Amino acid sequence: MVRVTPFVSAALLSLAAIEVVIAKSQKHFKDLSGFQDTCTQIAEAIRFSNDSALYYSPSSQYHLDNAHWSESSTAQSACSVEPGTPQDVGKILRIIGVTRTPFAVKGGGHATNPGFSSTIGVQISMTRFNKVIVKREASTVEVGAGLTWDDVYQALDGTGLNVVGGRVSGVGVAGFTLGGGYSWKTNQYGLTIDNVESYELVLPDGTIQIVTSQNEDLWFGLRGGFNNFGIVTKFVLKAHPQGDVWGGLVIISSSSRHVHKVKAAILKFQQEVTDPKAMLLPTYNSVRNIPSIEVLMFYDGPEKPAGIFDDFLTMVEIRVIETSASFLEFLKILPSSDPFAGKRAYFSTVSVLQYSAPLLDVLANETLFWGKKLSKLDSRGAVSYDMEPFDPGLFNHSNIPSAYPPDRSRALFPTNIYFAWSSPSKDADVATALWQSTNTIRAAAIAQGQNIDDVAVYGNYALIGTPVESLYGANLPRLRSIQNRVDPHKVMALAGGFKF
Ligand SMILES: Cc1cc2nc3c(=O)[nH]c(=O)nc-3n(C[C@H](O)[C@H](O)[C@H](O)COP(=O)(O)OP(=O)(O)OC[C@H]3O[C@@H](n4cnc5c(N)ncnc54)[C@H](O)[C@@H]3O)c2cc1C
Ligand SMILES: *[C@@H]1O[C@H](CO)[C@@H](O)[C@H](O)[C@H]1NC(C)=O
Ligand SMILES: *[C@@H]1O[C@H](CO)[C@@H](O)[C@H](O)[C@H]1NC(C)=O
Ligand SMILES: *[C@@H]1O[C@H](CO)[C@@H](O)[C@H](O)[C@H]1NC(C)=O
Repeated sequence: MVRVTPFVSAALLSLAAIEVVIAKSQKHFKDLSGFQDTCTQIAEAIRFSNDSALYYSPSSQYHLDNAHWSESSTAQSACSVEPGTPQDVGKILRIIGVTRTPFAVKGGGHATNPGFSSTIGVQISMTRFNKVIVKREASTVEVGAGLTWDDVYQALDGTGLNVVGGRVSGVGVAGFTLGGGYSWKTNQYGLTIDNVESYELVLPDGTIQIVTSQNEDLWFGLRGGFNNFGIVTKFVLKAHPQGDVWGGLVIISSSSRHVHKVKAAILKFQQEVTDPKAMLLPTYNSVRNIPSIEVLMFYDGPEKPAGIFDDFLTMVEIRVIETSASFLEFLKILPSSDPFAGKRAYFSTVSVLQYSAPLLDVLANETLFWGKKLSKLDSRGAVSYDMEPFDPGLFNHSNIPSAYPPDRSRALFPTNIYFAWSSPSKDADVATALWQSTNTIRAAAIAQGQNIDDVAVYGNYALIGTPVESLYGANLPRLRSIQNRVDPHKVMALAGGFKF
C-alpha cells in the first residue's frame, strides 16, 4: 500500500511546482523553430486528408483552437491542428513522438490548470470529432471527443434518452469523462466513467484501439487517467430514459437574515433526503467583495417533489427561478458558466465526508475572507465555494476498479473552490491564496473529526501542483506499470496534465 502524501505540504510545493512545470516545458524545448518544423511535417502528413487541417496565427481557427474557458489556461502554440479521423490523430502522434515536440490535446478547453490542454508546441483541437449517434437498440450514445455537453444534450433533446454528463453549459465531454464526471444524474447512475461502454483510443504509437471492459488495464486507466494513455476520439456512453425535469435556482444575499436558514436547509437536505433523483448544489460566492449564496436544485422528474426543496424556495431574497421542462430547457435556467468578473480562473478542491455545520461556517468565512482579499488584489477578483452533497452511495454504481476514485468504499464529496481575477501579473498571488484557503478548509475538516487525511481529490478540480499521489493513491503503481507498457517512449509525457 502506498501512503498518500499529505496534502498540507502542498502549500509550499504549489508555487514552486507551477514554476518548475513551466520552466521544464520551456527549458527542454528552447528551440521554437523546431516546433515549426514539426508543424510542417504534420501539415505534409495530412495534406491529402480532407478531414483534417493545420492552422497558424493569426487565423481565426488557430485562435479558436487555442482558446480556453479560462484565459489563464490559454497559450500561443506554434500551430494548431484539427484532426478529423483517428488515423490522422495517429499520424500526428507519431510525428510528435519522433520529434519530441511538446503538445496539448483540447476537448472543450475547460481545464483551469495552465498547460493541461494548452502548449507552446502543437495544439491538437478535437473539434472535428463532433458526432452524436444514438443507438436505440443498444441503449448507447456515441459521442465525439470534441463536443461539449451542450451539443450532446441538444442532440438528445426529444429522444427520451439522456447520458450522465456535465451540469453547466460549455464544459467539454472529453476532459470531464476522462477525469471522472460528477453529473446531475450521479446519485442515480454514478460518475460518467461508470457509464462508459467503450472508448475509441489512439495509442501513443499511433495505432487505434477500441477499449472495453475486456481490456482490464486500459479500462482501469482510462477511467480517471486523463491523457496519460493516448488520445480518445470517441466515447460510447450508456443511454438512460429521460423525461421532463424540475429545476430551481435561488440567489440569496449574504447580508440577508436568511443566511442561517440556508445553512440549516443544506444540513437538512444532507441528513434527510434519500431520493437519488434529487440533487442540490449550493455555492457561497463573493464577487468584487459582494457576497451572495446561490442554490441550484434539480429533480429528475416533471414535478417539484414535496418537501425536499421548500426550505430554499421560501427564502426569496434576490431571485428565484423554477422550471418544469425538458432537460435541455432546465440547463438554460442555470447561471451562465462564463468566468465571473475576472476572466482568469483556477480551481482547487477538498474532498470531504460530509458538510457539517462547523464546516459550512468555515466555508462561509473563507468566502468572506478571500472575497475581500481578492477584490483588493485585483479589481475583478472573485471567489466561489461549491458544496457538492451527493448521495453516500455515489461510488457504488460500479464495482470495477478505476484509476479514480482509488477507493470506492467511502463516499467523498468534491468541494470545488474557484478563484477568478483578470490581471496576468496576479496569477501567482492567486494560486498562493487558493492553496491557503484549500489547506485551511482541509485542516478544519480534519480538526472537526473528518478522517480525510489520505483521501483522494478529484483531478478535474485539483490545482496544478497537487501531487499525483493525492489523486490516485494506492492505484499509482498499477497506473505506472500500465503506462510503461502502453507508452514506453513516453510520448504522452510531452503533453501537460497530471502525470503518473
Ligand atoms: C464552468 C465549469 C463547470 C464545471 N462543472 C463540472 C461538473 O459539474 N462536474 C465535473 O465533474 N466537472 C466539472 N467541471 C470540471 C471539468 O470536468 C473539467 O474542466 C474538464 O477537464 C473539462 O473537460 P474539457 O474537455 O472541457 O477540458 P480540456 O481543457 O479540453 O481538457 C482537460 C484535460 O483532458 C485532456 N483531454 C481532453 N481531450 C482529450 C482527449 N480527446 N483525449 C485525451 N485527453 C484529452 C486534456 O489534455 C486535459 O489534460 C467544470 C469546469 C468548469 C470550468
Ligand atoms: C479530397 O477532396 C478532393 C476534392 O473534393 C477530392 O478530389 C479528393 O479525392 C479528396 N481526397 C480524399 C483523400 O478523400
Ligand atoms: C476566517 O478565515 C480567516 C482565513 O482563513 C482566518 O484567519 C480567520 O481566523 C477566520 N475567522 C473565523 C472567525 O474563523
Ligand atoms: C457503498 O459500498 C461500500 C462497499 O464498497 C459500503 O461500505 C457502503 O456502505 C455503501 N454505501 C451505500 C450508501 O450504499
